[in-house]
This record gives sequence, C-alpha cells and structure tokens, in this order.
Amino acid sequence: MTERLPVLYNKKPCYDIVFTQSFDGLWEELQALECGSRKLCVVTDSRVDELYGEAVLNLLDGKCLKAAKYVFPEGEKYKTLDTVKDVYRFLIQEGFDRKDMLIALGGGVVGDLTGYTAATYLRGIDFVQVPTTLLSQADSSIGGKTGVDFDGYKNMVGAFKMPRLVYMNLAVLATLEDRQFFSGFAEIMKHGLIRDSIFYEWLIENMYEICERDLNVLQEMLQRSCSIKKLVVEKDPTEQGDRALLNLGHTIGHAIEKYKDFELYHGECVALGCVAAAYISWKKDMLAMEEYYEIRDMFVPFNLPISVDDIDPSEILKLTKSDKKMEAGNLKFILLKKIGKAVIDRSVTEDEILAAVREIYFSEEDAHE
Ligand code: GLY
Repeated sequence: MTERLPVLYNKKPCYDIVFTQSFDGLWEELQALECGSRKLCVVTDSRVDELYGEAVLNLLDGKCLKAAKYVFPEGEKYKTLDTVKDVYRFLIQEGFDRKDMLIALGGGVVGDLTGYTAATYLRGIDFVQVPTTLLSQADSSIGGKTGVDFDGYKNMVGAFKMPRLVYMNLAVLATLEDRQFFSGFAEIMKHGLIRDSIFYEWLIENMYEICERDLNVLQEMLQRSCSIKKLVVEKDPTEQGDRALLNLGHTIGHAIEKYKDFELYHGECVALGCVAAAYISWKKDMLAMEEYYEIRDMFVPFNLPISVDDIDPSEILKLTKSDKKMEAGNLKFILLKKIGKAVIDRSVTEDEILAAVREIYFSEEDAHE
C-alpha cells in the first residue's frame, strides 16, 4: 500500500516521502511537480543502471521535455568532485537550465552526489531522491544533506539541499545483496537507540520478518524509522543542535571507514561506532552495563559486526580527531543515557576513545585466547 510522510522545512511543507512497492507511481508523483514541462536527468551508477536504469527512463520518456540519463561507475571512490564535474559537463551539453531537474536513482553515493550537483549547478536546480538501498531509504535520502568525499575524508564538501520528493520503492530491497541490506539496518537501529525505545523493541520482536525481508514489515519499519528522522531534521535542518544526535556511531565509524579504505560498508562502520559510543557511555556511568551488552549483542542477529580486526587503535584515534565533528577543538560525541535517549557530549577524552576502540578491536591475541 502506498503511504506518504510529509516533511516540513522551516515549518512549511517541503517534500513528501512516498513509501510504495513498485516504480509504477513515480511518474504521477513527478507530474505533480510539473515535470511535464521540464528536462529530467536520471543520475545513477553502473550497478543500479543495470537493474533499474532503463525501466525508470522509460517511465519518463515521451512525458517530459527531455529524459536523459547519466551513469557513473559504482563505488565510494567515485563520490568526488571529479564525478560532479562530469555531471555538470553532461548537463551543459544536454542544455539543462535552472527549471530542469535531476533524479538520483541509487544508494547513498548517488543520492549525496546528485544532491550536491543539484545544489550547485546554476546555483541550484531541483532534484528528487529515488533511493534503492536500505541505507539510503532509511537515512541519506532524507533531510537534505548532500556532498562528496574529499581527499579520502567522508562528506567533507557539501551543502544542505532539500529534495522535492523522496520516492521509495521497497520492492528493490528484495534483491539487495545481504551485506548491503544489513548495512542499512544499522541506521535504522540507530534511530531506535537515539529516540525511540518502543521502536527498538519492535525491531527485536520483528527480527525474523525483517531478516526474511517481508515487504510489509519492511515498509512499517521504514515508515517508523523515517518518522523519527523526520522529527529530528524538521526541528534542526542544518545541524545547529539536536540533528547531531543522528551522528551516533559516526565519529569512530567514519574513522574506521577511512582507515579500511571503504572496504567495510558504511552501516557496518556505524554498527561498530555505535558499540564504541555505547561503551564510552557505560564507562562514563551514563548507560547501565546491561544496556551496553544488550546494544552490542543486538547487532549480531542482523549480521552486523561488533568487532573489527587489522586496525591500529591509535591511528583510529587520530582519524577520529580529524573528522568534521570537531567544534572549537573539542570532539562532539553522541552518547547514550539509555536505549531511546541520546545526548551530545563534549567531554570525551582521548583515553576514553582509545579504550572504546580497543573494546571493538578483535586482535590476533584474542583469537588465540
Ligand atoms: N545522516 C545523518 C543526518 O542526516 O543528519
């Protein structure tokens, strides 16, 4: 069943998140945005193009002024300004002007990069998110964060740019490879951890159906997860305050992601980062020990890692400090008071970070014990 969740920006209706189970309703949604008289460019990567590129282009062809498609190679290593430049060149060549629109068809890399291109091309044109991974449906397509990596630093260059629509076809989740699917789950778990213990319990109760990818359960899960994110981003769209709570697990997570040269998926690093943040919270006497172990162990049935090998904890510490979550030289850490209640904390020391990284570090010695 198609459901929609309106998202406000500065207290005014800004865009709808549409939850549905096919691409059939996409054109109708675009028509409501007056796309009949616009040029549309689908921006996607090579993997998603093979799966859905033609199908989506065919939905637009003949209905709008022009339907074009730009495909770049799959992978985080293409989330760069060079790829953005290539998209600009394509748009110029195809005669795209300020009233035309981009459609980001793909996962987080495609959504972030297309959004950033839309934010900057001709000082800003409209764009629509059509997320095709669980991670992008649960997190990156919502809230208007766009950007690219720079010199290996995640999302170092970017802009806030709200999409005109987020269209989620949940049927795409059925064919997502396991690792990619479960990676997205980390962001969903994160939403329960920061804001909603009842949702967190619901995830545990529905673990079997989620792992079996029951589409109706996935739809309910995403609607509830997106409602949490919606409330946070509506209150603080440009991360002046509480939106930072959504960064739970991302400070140490991003450092591991960079250290491993993006060999681990983003959600896998977020799971590791959440375990580390929960550990710091416990050691600071904010979180009960039982809740720390409960949080750590809950990632396991969802195939997410709770330890990582081949890292140098002191290098992870260094990378953590160079992440963009620094404010006046202090690290802005997100910690947990309990399941469902996260807080911003600026008092985390280097020793506490090191201890947390050692806690999630699975070393050779552990293997022989
Ligand atoms: N992914 C965190 C945020 O959108 O703020």
